[in-house]
Amino acid sequence: MKIAIAKERRPHERRVAATPDTIKRYLQWGFDVAVESGAGEAASISDDAYRDAGATVASSRAEVFANADIVLKVQRPLAQGADDDGLSDIPAGAYLIALHNPYGDRDGVDAYAKHNIVAFSMEMLPRISRAQSMDVLSSQSNLTGYKAVIDGAANYSKAMPMLMTAAGRINPAKVFVMGAGVAGLQAIATARRLGAIVSATDVRAASREEVQSLGASFIMVEADEGDTGQTAGGYAKEMSDDYKRRQAELIADHIKEQDIVITTALIPGRAAPILVNDDMIASMKPGSVIVDIAAEQGGNVSQTKPGEISVTGNGVKILAEYNLPSRLATDSSALYSRNLMNFVELLVNTEDKKLEIDWEDEIIVGTCLTRDGKVVHAALLPEEEKAPEPAATEDVAADDGASDTDSTEKGA
Ligand code: NAI
Repeated sequence: MKIAIAKERRPHERRVAATPDTIKRYLQWGFDVAVESGAGEAASISDDAYRDAGATVASSRAEVFANADIVLKVQRPLAQGADDDGLSDIPAGAYLIALHNPYGDRDGVDAYAKHNIVAFSMEMLPRISRAQSMDVLSSQSNLTGYKAVIDGAANYSKAMPMLMTAAGRINPAKVFVMGAGVAGLQAIATARRLGAIVSATDVRAASREEVQSLGASFIMVEADEGDTGQTAGGYAKEMSDDYKRRQAELIADHIKEQDIVITTALIPGRAAPILVNDDMIASMKPGSVIVDIAAEQGGNVSQTKPGEISVTGNGVKILAEYNLPSRLATDSSALYSRNLMNFVELLVNTEDKKLEIDWEDEIIVGTCLTRDGKVVHAALLPEEEKAPEPAATEDVAADDGASDTDSTEKGA
């Protein structure tokens, strides 16, 4: 059995899909591992470190992919163009495990089917307790929330904590976190550690307690009776127009007092909701900073320029850089690699050292996009071709995303 690790080639991507630690485990399970030279360079992992762990390092991607049973990547291959990012070098029938963005890149999914690749999409992982150690969205969002606060503080021209000096007192910064999911909760915890006064908002009523337990105040409009603001899977849902209007009024009042605003609000399968409009930006003080984590999904801020740092006419800095976890490439690679390793364990009989998949397993059904030359994921099929969904075997588990040890230990 062979696992192949390619160098990532997409812009802004510094992560790698395996570390020497995870490779040692793959070898114990009976795999040979081939790594493309330079794959770990941007995450500070040298070719020698991979060799020392027992991997073969090859200079050509074609050599790395040859005869591979499993290809591990961070980003999906570029399916079109002269350089198809190695897609045509992946052997037919091989398992390709990565972030595939299946809703945003349907052509890519069709290309996997055409090449007879068995693609598993890590962002489609069901959020059940058993899958927590494989949950790449959580591990990467955790680092994103942390990095957003660090970037926000670095771009703010005042201090974060209250400082008492002989020359006078410096007031603590006010940080407002919009969206209290995994990234938002980590942002709250990080801003609190830096000494800021923190407040947060979310549409999910359940997040109130989590926010308050981290020492932040919770700002939220009351929804209609019985409306929890979330789907059965625990994600935010699109709120009514009346709710959105009341939410905008409340935020407008609060935001003008804030120094750093971190926006993290996402709704799966839709463009990110606009939560900070032009009037709100105009009401903010010069020198204040907005970090828009949702920039890749269009952004939560009306004046976000995705991928850029910009300054508005009234001196508000908007940070909307792509791929924040990639900017902590060593840690994000370590967590991502461990998530993948825990997923690969599902595909292998580690005693007999052979590939063995339970195609009925909820986690496999939830992540498998293509198989036997066909698109098979229910969410990507037309209504009439959908098979009935398997009954969920576990409850959706809560993950506060804010504990210091949680992100590093849960994939161990
Ligand atoms: P996400 O990345 O999809 O969205 C970020 C946050 O933005 C969410 O808290 C969402 O409610 C909020 N949001 C969306 N629209 C908003 C709006 N208009 N105004 C204000 N806030 C808005 O969320 P994430 O981080 O993936 O977490 C979603 C849920 O999944 C949470 O309940 C979390 O606890 C749960 N979860 C469960 C896991 C598991 O069981 N394995 C793992 C990780 C998270």
